[in-house]
Amino acid sequence: MQIIKEKARLNSWVATIKYEGGIIGLVPTMGALHEGHLSLIRQAASVCDWVAVSIFINPTQFDKPLDLQNYPQTLDEDIALLGELNLNIVVFSPTASELYDDKIEAEHFEFDGVELEMEGKFRFGHFDGVGTVVKKLFEIIQPDKAFFGEKDFQQLQIIRKLIEKTGLPVEIIGCPIYRESSGLARSSRNERLSDEMRQQASFIYQTLLKAKEKFGTESAKQISDWVENEFKTHPFLKLEYFEIADSNSLKTVKNKQLDTPYHAFIAVYAGEIRLIDNIALNY
Ligand code: PAF
Repeated sequence: MQIIKEKARLNSWVATIKYEGGIIGLVPTMGALHEGHLSLIRQAASVCDWVAVSIFINPTQFDKPLDLQNYPQTLDEDIALLGELNLNIVVFSPTASELYDDKIEAEHFEFDGVELEMEGKFRFGHFDGVGTVVKKLFEIIQPDKAFFGEKDFQQLQIIRKLIEKTGLPVEIIGCPIYRESSGLARSSRNERLSDEMRQQASFIYQTLLKAKEKFGTESAKQISDWVENEFKTHPFLKLEYFEIADSNSLKTVKNKQLDTPYHAFIAVYAGEIRLIDNIALNY
């Protein structure tokens, strides 16, 4: 396994692999790797000759400086974990000034309004930061395919838009949400939950499953009201938003259409920790 920190060295690695006709899959991460990331990497390795795993805590996608400060930095552990996989992996872990050429700023993007929904309302500038860093990684690594988890479903749709807008030749592959045995979606943030809170947080997925059940017979408004009530009485969890939206445009549903795919999206605070999840409702 190679570990590369400089763009120039990565460029020569990419040139060699391309010359040999190798297929490169990219799994972009911010480190603190867990089973969810490993499942993306295994999926990438099953269809690519090489998996480039980027480990970079991207400063421009954090709307709160404290979140950036508290983000776990576990590069040595991450590298050890990747080494155990025994796959063709190249780790790209640049510093911020190396990746951003000393101008650590987000580019502004318009993604046909997808960026303005849900997370866009609660995390100002977040998707500009994500778009900026992913575009840079695509340009440097030139992957044939890139793998993103469906837990961050809105992010996945944003990346699809990025490809549509920039014309970069990367196939975007969405991978199923990796869940803990309790049903809680796997996230680096789960490590910061107490054992009790982690158990309590499985309520989020249980609520999504019930919302899916109700979707066949109840209106989106009825379901949203029901979810809000469920959380009002919950002693540990605080609902930030629950939305039923078109899975492609991410616009909130007004009247359900038979042939439109819908998702339910949720963001919840478990103490200080913000958790998100989603579920496909009718496919
Ligand atoms: O999902 C993440 O971990 C990040 O948003 C990503 C895609 C690595 C960009 O920094």
